[in-house]
Amino acid sequence: MSEIYPVPPAFAARAHVDAAAYDRLYRQSVEDGEGFWRGQAAFLEWMRPFTRVSDTNFDPADLRIRWFADGTLNASVNCVDRHLPAKADKPAILWEGDTPGENRMVTWGELADKVNRLANVLKGLGVGKGDVVAVYLPVIPEVMVAMMACVRIGAVHTVVFSGFSSESLANRIEDSQAKVLITADEGHRGGRVVPLKRNADVAVAGQPSIRHVVVVRRSGAPVPVTPGRDLWYDEATVAADPWCEPVEVGAEDPLFILYTSGSTGKPKGLVHTTGGYLVHVGTSWRIIFDWHEGDLFWCTADVGWVTAHSYKIYGPLLNGATSVMFEGVPSWPDSSRWWSIIEKHGVNIFYTAPTALRSLMREGEGPVRKHDLSSLRVLGSVGEPINPEAWRWYHSVIGGGRCPIVDNYWQTETGAVLLVPIPGAIPNKPGMAAQPYFGIRPEVVDADGNTLEGAAEGNMCFRGSWPGQARTILHDHERFIRTYFAPYPGRFFTGDGVKRDADGYYRISGRVDDVINVSGHRLGTVELESAISSHPAVAEAAVVGYPHEVKGQGVFAYVTLKEEVPESEELRREIIEWVRARIGPIASPDIVQWAPALPKNRAGKILRRILTKVAANQFDNFGDTSTVADPAVVDDIVRRRQTHLAQEKA
Ligand code: WT7
Repeated sequence: MSEIYPVPPAFAARAHVDAAAYDRLYRQSVEDGEGFWRGQAAFLEWMRPFTRVSDTNFDPADLRIRWFADGTLNASVNCVDRHLPAKADKPAILWEGDTPGENRMVTWGELADKVNRLANVLKGLGVGKGDVVAVYLPVIPEVMVAMMACVRIGAVHTVVFSGFSSESLANRIEDSQAKVLITADEGHRGGRVVPLKRNADVAVAGQPSIRHVVVVRRSGAPVPVTPGRDLWYDEATVAADPWCEPVEVGAEDPLFILYTSGSTGKPKGLVHTTGGYLVHVGTSWRIIFDWHEGDLFWCTADVGWVTAHSYKIYGPLLNGATSVMFEGVPSWPDSSRWWSIIEKHGVNIFYTAPTALRSLMREGEGPVRKHDLSSLRVLGSVGEPINPEAWRWYHSVIGGGRCPIVDNYWQTETGAVLLVPIPGAIPNKPGMAAQPYFGIRPEVVDADGNTLEGAAEGNMCFRGSWPGQARTILHDHERFIRTYFAPYPGRFFTGDGVKRDADGYYRISGRVDDVINVSGHRLGTVELESAISSHPAVAEAAVVGYPHEVKGQGVFAYVTLKEEVPESEELRREIIEWVRARIGPIASPDIVQWAPALPKNRAGKILRRILTKVAANQFDNFGDTSTVADPAVVDDIVRRRQTHLAQEKA
């Protein structure tokens, strides 16, 4: 028997979409996708209206994804200018700094002014339509300004998570050939200082594509300045003209590039285009969070991820919604920080990730009870499967039992939501992303490519295009086709496993490829392995995910040292540090186990299935081990794991 939480009737009564509307609209949206999305596209202000809705084909031999292709528009006009007549003096952003008491309010009028000025600064630096601008900023209003300033002049932003290392930043700059980098002197997170300008200097040193670095003064700390290359954001924008004519771009012109990890070493730059993305994001954001005029929205995601691109920046801006923006972390100065912000501002819609909920849950109800959370109406969850225990805590302790939970499933590649319990329409089942969004056709597919009907378990695929999906991987269209469209022809393959129950509810079970999901962050195991293997003492490494109470999955690294190198605690710590420095703290291995050899088949392929089992403390049922070249290797990694567990217990 599965647990069902019906839609509260009062909620359904004022919702944009109730159960009857969902059934009707969903049917219409799949029977007449063109008609449905044409209607949705009216949500945007177009400069030249499109005549054709879509031209799409998922056949790997002739892949086409084009939406509203002959229409033209400007994203910043839709996100900012449109709201000025009614809202120039009203808040767009309520910002809370890392340190309690430090806050700012930015009105729509101020936002427009900042966007126009920075757009002119970028233009003055030689940035034009189609040029790439890298953004390496903390969660401060200027990050939104930077993104909007880029799209105002038809430039393409690539936002890099400010927790990434200089090397990760450099890789992304190199791949995207960004002309300008926008960063800050320092970032503040959880009471600690992040030396952004210093990281940026290291990253830019070997990147000739970068001509200028624009530096936002966040902390005011003295930082090195390279004359001729660097300029201060505040000085440059004060001197700039306050009006910048928005550039008309085609619907299929790129809006942004966002890098994410895949199952091969190099992060891939997913390219999103303008018209389709804005239609899908803007209309779905309003519906899935059931936002109404006057509601206050807060998404806790960092700007470096797609969650924030779509549903913290573009979704709220397109709808003229006021958002809370918070620079810090939920646990600092103490674990009631988020709840104090909800109470202070009266947040109505709160959107976060399961990993944070699991860590806050461990602090008990005390930190929550100190605050009045009665303003909350809708709760969102994204980034990884939410375990039923965390779901129930979120529902009862944070939501007081009255708020529907919007567990929305999607990816960097999909741009916006695919599966979601629309809150006024679909009853909740804990841990289930529930039902398809409008126009979305999920399929559960077995390993042979057969589409399964009814209750079933298999690979999560989608048939038919939707406007928000990525169009390509930058410089690697072949990889785009191979990864997403070749595995199951006619369908987009997500890389996730899924289970559908008898009521047609979907539960995502996690990745089935070489990607692990650590605290809602995607990490490619191959990327981690190459970082570890680049350490001079390491001969070889294999990385797998293992179940982690708070992070969902943790990083488990099996490391083979070079012959003459002795195993030591010091070296173990050094390798962990090495990965932090190469990728960033989110990629730190949780467990490093020495492996004098790795289990391989006769062709030399590492048998990850066995490594994954051992990491999860499953020491039997390795399945068919006849392919293992040397069975003694398996015995050895099992023995080492068991010894470690015994030591931990003692
Ligand atoms: C991967 C995508 C959605 C934007 C944030 C992450 C996992 C995401 C859910 C969910 C279960 C989820 C999948 C997916 N995932 N949302 N509601 N339930 N799993 O974007 O970094 O591109 O990661 O996150 O495994 O493939 P991303």
